[in-house]
Amino acid sequence: MNFLEQVIALSREIHATVPSIQTPELLEEFRLRHLVRKGTIQALVESLRTVPAEEKPVAGKELNALKQYAEEAYSQLKQNLDDNKADVVPVDITLPARNAERGHLHVITQTMDEITRIFASLGFTVEEGPEIEDDYHNFEALNFPPDHPARDMQDTFHINDPAGKYLLRTHTSPVQVRVMERQKPPIRCIVPGRVYRNEAISARSYSIFHQIEGLAIDEGINFSELQGTLFSFAKQFYGAEGVVRFRPSFFPFTEPSAEMDVTCYLCGGKGCRVCKGSGWLEILGCGMVHPKVLANAGIDPERYTGYAFGMGIERTAMLKYGIDDIRILYENDLRVLRQF
Ligand code: DAH
Repeated sequence: MNFLEQVIALSREIHATVPSIQTPELLEEFRLRHLVRKGTIQALVESLRTVPAEEKPVAGKELNALKQYAEEAYSQLKQNLDDNKADVVPVDITLPARNAERGHLHVITQTMDEITRIFASLGFTVEEGPEIEDDYHNFEALNFPPDHPARDMQDTFHINDPAGKYLLRTHTSPVQVRVMERQKPPIRCIVPGRVYRNEAISARSYSIFHQIEGLAIDEGINFSELQGTLFSFAKQFYGAEGVVRFRPSFFPFTEPSAEMDVTCYLCGGKGCRVCKGSGWLEILGCGMVHPKVLANAGIDPERYTGYAFGMGIERTAMLKYGIDDIRILYENDLRVLRQF
């Protein structure tokens, strides 16, 4: 190969390589092979001295052109690669995905779901009713006569409707009446839902809260079935160590009426701050459905009997988890929510 042929061979190689240079590493390889002092081009420049005089002008011109091409190609490629660097973020598609943050159900919903599951396992269905309720279902059909002082137990938000008969339900008990109106016995249902009371907000009470109502109507239902069902619930929900007791109470829509207490979860019954020294925590109201309520809902009280119960979800969750202020359940502070 004479000198000119060597220049042409190198020129072919360089022209073939340039289009394939797409990474800084390939570009650097190109520079080290061709453009440094010990590279291919400089080697030819140095051996130009030995070329016969008559070949020199042509060979020299070709070599110069090649050198210029290689240098320009180099700086052009370098510039392109530098420009791209800014917006090409290397993506490794084999990397595992970052963990997405997942939300979860609120502790009130969790508690309501857990109670619902327990009663569902005892054969209760789940029913619902309206939150904007009429006076009849919320009070009157439940044996709260107009102007009866028992209405004062439940401070009510009234709706500003022309007839003055709508309100925000103060408890889930009106759904008892609605279920009996639309369904014939046997009835065994629970009603989870939101209720409203016009009360001053404090650590113990909030204007919105949740209840679960229970209702069972059939022939021959008696108080011991009520006790057995609630006892079984308390065992599953509060744990087997807990003991329950029933105390006489009063509700207009049940007769007789009772309240159920469980052994204080904190002190185990010895008496402490949470149970105010009594060793007991009051968790629900219950009783045998008043014959007047059955009759109001179109069920024959001579043939059928039944029981009802109702409990507050917030209170239940607060007792179970040792929460001492109901308001934090509604503030949605992530530090609280994440604990459940
Ligand atoms: N509705 C009552 C309240 O909100 C709770 C209650 C008591 C419900 C006794 C019942 C019951 O079904 O039998 O205070």
